[in-house]
Amino acid sequence: MFLQELTSMSIHAILLAGGSSTRFNSPIPKVLYPFLDKPLIEHLIDSLLSLRVEKITIISGKRTDALLKEKYSSERITILEQKEPLGTLDAVKTALAIVKEESLLIINGDTPLIRAQFLQKIIEHPSHNVIAISHRSNPEGLGRVMLNKQGFVYKIIEQKHLKEQELSCKKVNAGIYKFQTQQFLNSLSLSFQTPEQYLTSSIGSYLKGALLCEPLAEELGSQWTLQGVNSFEELSSLESSYFQAQRLKALKQGAILKNSAQIFIYGHTEVSPGVCITGPCELRGNNILGPGAQVEPFSMLKDISLGNSSVIHSFSHLQSSQFGSQNHLGPYLRSRGNIKTKEHVHLGNFLEIKDLTIEEHTKAKHFGYLGNGSIGSTCNIGAGVVFCNYDGKTKQSTIIDQHVFVGASSQLIAPIKIGHSCYIGAGTVLSKNLSPATLAVRRATLKQTDYKKQLEKQGEK
Ligand code: UD1
Ligand code: CA
Repeated sequence: MFLQELTSMSIHAILLAGGSSTRFNSPIPKVLYPFLDKPLIEHLIDSLLSLRVEKITIISGKRTDALLKEKYSSERITILEQKEPLGTLDAVKTALAIVKEESLLIINGDTPLIRAQFLQKIIEHPSHNVIAISHRSNPEGLGRVMLNKQGFVYKIIEQKHLKEQELSCKKVNAGIYKFQTQQFLNSLSLSFQTPEQYLTSSIGSYLKGALLCEPLAEELGSQWTLQGVNSFEELSSLESSYFQAQRLKALKQGAILKNSAQIFIYGHTEVSPGVCITGPCELRGNNILGPGAQVEPFSMLKDISLGNSSVIHSFSHLQSSQFGSQNHLGPYLRSRGNIKTKEHVHLGNFLEIKDLTIEEHTKAKHFGYLGNGSIGSTCNIGAGVVFCNYDGKTKQSTIIDQHVFVGASSQLIAPIKIGHSCYIGAGTVLSKNLSPATLAVRRATLKQTDYKKQLEKQGEK
């Protein structure tokens, strides 16, 4: 069969999540347990959704059925309850009645970090029936894969059925299978009829007519991505492997990592050579760090792009923003999203920003709140300046043109527009637009009395 023909075969993915998770002693069901940045099973769902898979069926259990249905049901995703956790084969059988596709992709739902590229490789594999295998130095507890002389899977033996001489086998079943639907259905009647029904019993050639599968291993160095999670120890070890792989990726791209064990990169961060990141810090979502950019410790970045040589100083918490080159951000800067800055912008200590564009060479180096607006180039925003953007119902904008000086502790009541080259004196509460080059100062008249005399009078009483 030609590759083109094979890749055009329709595919139905079945995610097995109906087990009782007895080894995972948690009030939150294992497949919904928070893992990295989302529930454990969502990693697999997202990978499958990114692939050419027509339908996805998730096999749920008693504890997970309603929760999975509420969260993931969609046109492509169906949740089906396995009434009793009788085994992985029984779980697959739960879904068979609704499978119309030519090919089945069955995946253990507790193996969250399988790479989408690897699943793609299985889908495109010229063999109709493929099983993913992994090489483990410690295969304890896992199904061992035996190969025949032709290199096909001869049988899979679960740990408790291993004979003494088979214990040393390090090739393990990763719990990812592709079958041609009809061939799979034909083999079912031949599988072992034990009280617990193993999917692995229906694979191999030792039973006449059972499925002949070709083994496929992940590339060297990525084998950890095939690790399943049965216990908290395994969850924690998989999480560590993930972060370590992310750090190695950043190092390979040319980053300098300091206190690297405490740098936690979730999602995708693209770094340029010379980027320096110091832990502890967290990088979440999709980030792009330009050449020479620095991230100081105790910072959290989510969906940030940072231009050349910009510095995020310590304790900054930044999300969904694009910062230009040579920016100085923080310490203690809080960006709540939708920020765009040009080059040489300084945003300072204890400043909160949101929905703002800031042109080049503008500085707001101290505490304050700036939101819903735009600030032109070469402006200076003093300490404690507040853009009063919210009237209790709607948000209004503050538009400041270039070369504007806003004195400390001023409050700009939006909607408001400040023309270029204006100078606003410290402590001004401004609720009117300013034409270009206006000096605006609003101060209450200072009242002075002789306090010393007052005190003397009080003393006489
Ligand atoms: C399974 C494989 C083993 C393999 C290992 C890889 C079987 C019999 N064994 O073992 O060969 O090396 O995965 O990680 O398949 N599930 C159901 N319904 C059930 C039982 C299980 O949906 O009745 C689901 C579980 O929720 C889980 C998956 O199937 O997501 C695998 O089951 P689990 O009990 O974790 O199997 P392992 O012992 O890890
Ligand atoms: Ca498992």
